[in-house]
Amino acid sequence: MRDKYCGDVRETDVGSTLSLTGWANRWRDHGGLVFIDLRDRSGVVQIVFSPEVDAEIHELAHKIRNEFVLQVKGEVRKRPEGTENPSIPTGQVEVVVKELNVLNESKPLPFMIEDETEASELLRLRHRYLDLRRPVIRENIILRHKTARAVREYLDSQGFLEVETPVLTKSTPEGARDYLVASRTNPGHFYALPQSPQLFKQILMVSGLEKYYQIVKCFRDEDLRADRQPEFTQIDLEMSFVKRDDVISLIDEMIKKVFKDVLGKELNEPFARLKYSEAMERFGSDKPDLRFSLELKDVSGLVKESSFKVFLDTLSNGGIVKGLNAKGLARYSRKELDDLTKEVQSFGAKGLAWIKAKKGFESPIAKFFPEQTLKAVADRLEAEEGDLMLFVADKPQVVNDTLARLRQELGGRLELIKDDVYKLAWITDYPLFEWNDEEKRYEAMHHPFTSPMEEDLEMFLSMDTSELQTPDSKLSSIQAQAYDIVLNGYEIGGGSIRIHKKAVQDRMFEMLKISPEEADTKFGFLLEALEYGAPPHGGIALGLDRLVMILAGAQSIRDVIAFPKTQKAVCPLSNAPSSVDEKQLKELHIRSLHVEPDQD
Ligand code: AMO
Ligand code: AMP
Repeated sequence: MRDKYCGDVRETDVGSTLSLTGWANRWRDHGGLVFIDLRDRSGVVQIVFSPEVDAEIHELAHKIRNEFVLQVKGEVRKRPEGTENPSIPTGQVEVVVKELNVLNESKPLPFMIEDETEASELLRLRHRYLDLRRPVIRENIILRHKTARAVREYLDSQGFLEVETPVLTKSTPEGARDYLVASRTNPGHFYALPQSPQLFKQILMVSGLEKYYQIVKCFRDEDLRADRQPEFTQIDLEMSFVKRDDVISLIDEMIKKVFKDVLGKELNEPFARLKYSEAMERFGSDKPDLRFSLELKDVSGLVKESSFKVFLDTLSNGGIVKGLNAKGLARYSRKELDDLTKEVQSFGAKGLAWIKAKKGFESPIAKFFPEQTLKAVADRLEAEEGDLMLFVADKPQVVNDTLARLRQELGGRLELIKDDVYKLAWITDYPLFEWNDEEKRYEAMHHPFTSPMEEDLEMFLSMDTSELQTPDSKLSSIQAQAYDIVLNGYEIGGGSIRIHKKAVQDRMFEMLKISPEEADTKFGFLLEALEYGAPPHGGIALGLDRLVMILAGAQSIRDVIAFPKTQKAVCPLSNAPSSVDEKQLKELHIRSLHVEPDQD
């Protein structure tokens, strides 16, 4: 129906007659001429209706409304001098319409098809087909396609096989709640939608496929945020006969190719490497944004010389005091400091202590500190005249977590975060276990199939299991062959070298207080497979949505998913989830306990 895409018309087409199709984007009447931006996937071109060229068609053009679907035929001409639009690729030309065919009409729109919109996200998602016409969102979807294509090309070039794994399956241990699907043919039994293909990809290694990948949907029923959806996509892969650094260098090259193909950007610097403990110490987070420094400094050793009760009590209860230097912010007023304190309290801190480096030191707590301690603290934080030092005292986890969030906030306020800078980092040497204080037991920090470090294996196998009852046993010092990859403060991927020996896997479950019966019910098929010549293997999964979000400069993964769900896990377009017929439930042997609020 067309000779060219709208966005591809150029000065070289001047003089030729073209058929074009698309949507009427912007309608204007200037001095008797009607101008419309005709838009298709490739962009827009200006079309002109002139009464001198064809009075009848010019008359018809007045009936065209936004988003009518048009087919036009006309002559490409150079725009008259002074009317060119250098900001779009077709800005030098316009098409003088000689034939018009209205292919379809459109109702008045709930919102305009423009990048800048006032429309609420709910309204946009409800009419996602219109929202996807907005150039920003369309470009995100195109960028997502390019990213997936670059990944496929790269992994194919490295000998990976794309293998599909089941969606109706059993629960996998990624730590979130499962989505369940009732089985009609097996009354009372349920499938779980996979939280990841973890178990199957390991089995593919036992199967001898050696290099597997899949761009795959995963499902997790967890609290949603800007970077979390209930269904999301992983670039999931697994390899046999590899060590950690083989996986890491493969992903380094893959990410470099993605940046080159998608953004035309060369990532020349090697990606940073940080041990987990170092990341926590310096940034308070295992997903630090390395686009700026603003590092946290432990001042516990220094402030014990003070008489400030809050700090002293914290230290004597096994807590720590860390601070950071907000460069130049000694100018903050009392009100600004109170607001900042409230914000840090909303992150979970009890308070925020501050000391200004301003003609000496200015602070409500300065009186509790000997002068030389204040100087030593300022030295540790590298504070100069005009700087503001901020401190949190609490359990290490609270201090790190709240200061990490404060660091990010200040990075924004101090304009330290540049948009087109990309800082990648590998975080390694994770602890194998994490203490769950509520359940008084250890949990796998990554997942229970992650291998301990080779040097810790001996201790892991020989440890006395009575150690398992306490949070600071030797178990917490065992490290995992796990690694995460972080981009600009987002965890974009995580993986590990796996346990490939049954005895080690059994031991792991023992440490996690998972009984052999429970392990067998949940993961029996993998455990059995491990007994038939499982090769050493490892892998990783990258969050495709998060990667594309960052490449697109978007603020939420919802902007890079064609049909995303809201914070409440609802799809406003299809209205899923919805109630179902009694008959359907009956077939599935299910009775709903839910009562609609207005009925009780
Ligand atoms: P993990 O649970 O770390 O590892 O997931 C891998 C990556 O997937 C992304 N991700 C998400 N993205 C959007 N919404 C979510 N709800 C969500 N949850 C996770 C993150 C994360 O880094 N089987 C292991 C991988 C392995 O060991 O090979 C796994 O799933 O970017
Ligand atoms: P207070 O003695 O409670 O009035 O606190 C004095 C100052 O210390 C205030 O600025 C509080 O915000 C701050 N503060 C209180 N608790 C903490 C804490 N756990 N860490 C850091 N500062 C705190």
